[in-house]
Amino acid sequence: MKNFDAINHIKGKSIYIDDFVLPQNALFASVFFSPIAHGKIISFNLEKAKSIDGVVAILSSKDIPGENQIGGIIQDEVLLAENEVHFIGESIFVVVAKSLEIARKSKKLIEIEFEELPAIINEREAFAKNSLLAPPVIFANGNIEEGFSESDFIIEGSFSSGGQEHLYLETQGAFSIPQEGERIKIISSTQNPSAVQKQASKVLGISMNKIEVEVLRLGGGFGGKEDQATPWAVISALAARITNSPVKLVLSRQEDLLVTGKRHPYSSDFKIGLNKDGKILAYEVTYFQNGGAVADLSTAVLERTLFHATNSYFIPNVKATGISCKTNLPPNTAFRGFGGPQGMFVIEFAIEQAANKIGIPKHEIQKKNLLKDGDELHYGQIVENSNSESCWQKAEIQFNIENQIREIKRFNSENQLYKKGFSFMPICFGISFTSTFLNQANSLIHIYHDGSVSISTAAVEMGQGVNAKIAIAAAKTFSINIERIRIETTNTSRNANTSPTAASSGADMNANATILAAKEILARLIESARTELNANPTDLIEIIDEIVFVNHEKTNLTWEKLIWRTYFNRINLSAHGFYATPNIHFDRKTNKGKPFAYHVYGTAFTIAKIDVLRGISKIESVQIVHDFGKSLNPEIDLGQVEGALVQGIGWVTMEELQYSENGKLLANSLSTYKIPDIYSSPDKTEVVFLDNSENRFGPLSSKAIGEPPFMYGIGAFFAIKNAIENAKQEKSKINSSPITNEKILLELYNERK
Ligand code: MTE
Ligand code: HPA
Ligand code: MOS
Repeated sequence: MKNFDAINHIKGKSIYIDDFVLPQNALFASVFFSPIAHGKIISFNLEKAKSIDGVVAILSSKDIPGENQIGGIIQDEVLLAENEVHFIGESIFVVVAKSLEIARKSKKLIEIEFEELPAIINEREAFAKNSLLAPPVIFANGNIEEGFSESDFIIEGSFSSGGQEHLYLETQGAFSIPQEGERIKIISSTQNPSAVQKQASKVLGISMNKIEVEVLRLGGGFGGKEDQATPWAVISALAARITNSPVKLVLSRQEDLLVTGKRHPYSSDFKIGLNKDGKILAYEVTYFQNGGAVADLSTAVLERTLFHATNSYFIPNVKATGISCKTNLPPNTAFRGFGGPQGMFVIEFAIEQAANKIGIPKHEIQKKNLLKDGDELHYGQIVENSNSESCWQKAEIQFNIENQIREIKRFNSENQLYKKGFSFMPICFGISFTSTFLNQANSLIHIYHDGSVSISTAAVEMGQGVNAKIAIAAAKTFSINIERIRIETTNTSRNANTSPTAASSGADMNANATILAAKEILARLIESARTELNANPTDLIEIIDEIVFVNHEKTNLTWEKLIWRTYFNRINLSAHGFYATPNIHFDRKTNKGKPFAYHVYGTAFTIAKIDVLRGISKIESVQIVHDFGKSLNPEIDLGQVEGALVQGIGWVTMEELQYSENGKLLANSLSTYKIPDIYSSPDKTEVVFLDNSENRFGPLSSKAIGEPPFMYGIGAFFAIKNAIENAKQEKSKINSSPITNEKILLELYNERK
């Protein structure tokens, strides 16, 4: 079975925000953004802009009936700027007009005068000036001084990783329609309908039950629509309220690139201590996160960096400090991995530097320190059912890695113009929102009396295949044909108080809630069948493939007949299931607990080839053993691994966000911001399922898949770096990602500054 949407996507028939048929009186909004990174608004004049025919209104913060505040975790984010602007792209005015062309034309006539203030672009500079979004956070265990004093080797260094543009195919957008009375309906491209509902309620000054948020699907989110779909939805709702007309607001690609936040760039300092045997004894790390101008999700992202500071390794003494720095960039935000990749990258770099200093292969240190059951992670969680070593070992055998390494050496000794390198990238990713309260989901099932099934959950379909997974879970629970099941849109009037579809737990939690609701209805159906068939109370009644069985014997009672009889006998054919991930907790005072229901493991083996004359890199192959649990749908899961891998490779090899000194994104189109295409994908990608993996927390024993494979991409960085070292016959000094072709060339010819 394929992703539900595959056929409509390919035919171009799937509907996105931009495709909704608009009512005749619909208006169009376009936002006037701050052109400067930091400054005071001295004066403005909207008269000329308003004078254009077809302009209905130009809104500013003064038009907000409720609170001008949309901060999620920290209340530091205004919807529309008041007296000061803090990044290029901050929303100041909203032009509402009869067409988008008119709105854009009008926007150009807005007159505004600023007093420019100094802007901070870089996280280290922000830290030096004490410009922080929140106080530093420390995760620690053991005794770091003791760990270092027992170490035979101590290596210190710095590493930085760049940001990343989400580049979802569908840009941010929303469409709001005033309803009767004060009520309003918002159709939004958001991963987080309840957040849109909550913030719109605050800004409009009306209660949440007067706002209905509807999501059909997203043309990709990747975390970029967890928090940052909200402003556009709320602006369109505000404009709809004030003009009393439906209002559509969709960002153009260039606007989206310029004004929305991205993956957080990080710059980090580390110190790692090992004994003679290659055991890691101590690890100290400080992360400087470039948070942008307001908090958004930065503190939560930073927390996940701290959780994943040691990746898939056991380190007895750890001190990890996270500092969220406030800069004058658009607020950086969630992006696949949610800070995890940034944390894991630094420990991988530290191990590489240690290997170089000690003079042993990196993978020997990696392998020696993999997590085992019973190990205590630095945040207090005890490792259970670790598949860290089994994935690694299976990869070694299955891919015949020893041979491949020998082959790479042979290639390098015979070739001067091309050199190869390799890397191992083990991963360990915690599943659950690190904010415990978010680990809840609900599902509403109706069985109509023709036997068809409708399921509404909190999950948002954004290409990851969550709808298909929920349908599979329901079809298996009822034992019916999947064609009978329809997954409804995500709508706050049907499912309330929902968590964002994020943290890779959307499929997990919403499928679990669906199974609970299905089981409730199933229990009623079984009793209904018992009555219908005059069976005894002790008889075993089952539904198998749409047929009722009594004591393992087939009857002629079919699903459709049973449903009709159950309805006829006035028995409830609907249920609401609620799932809360059990036994998780985390204490933010001590930074200890069991925040994750479970971990996902895997190992990637990557081979890169560089063209020594031109500095061009190519990922030849990535071979992965991944821990899927018992996959609900291997095709969807494989798609997630391949997509995440390529996205990860893009992040570490070519995607480079260049900003000007005054905070303007220079890489603001696809001609200056390079993303991976089919040519830059690995020539060969091989994904092997780890066998015998169980997971009692996942629906039908499956494991979450959305984010973990992103981090396999980090292996490309180290494989390329290894190829450079094989070309130069000396260790490379590159300590920043991405490792672009330009950087490779400069490194090869020692021009690097
Ligand atoms: N896959 C596609 N095609 N499009 C997306 O936007 N988002 C990723 C991942 N896979 C995404 C995707 C991210 S960031 C997350 S958290 C998960 O999907 C969310 O979905 P899930 O929780 O159902 O796995
Ligand atoms: N992942 C994604 N989104 C989140 C998380 C998380 O761990 N915590 C809060 N929002
Ligand atoms: Mo994913 S970054 O948790 O939306």
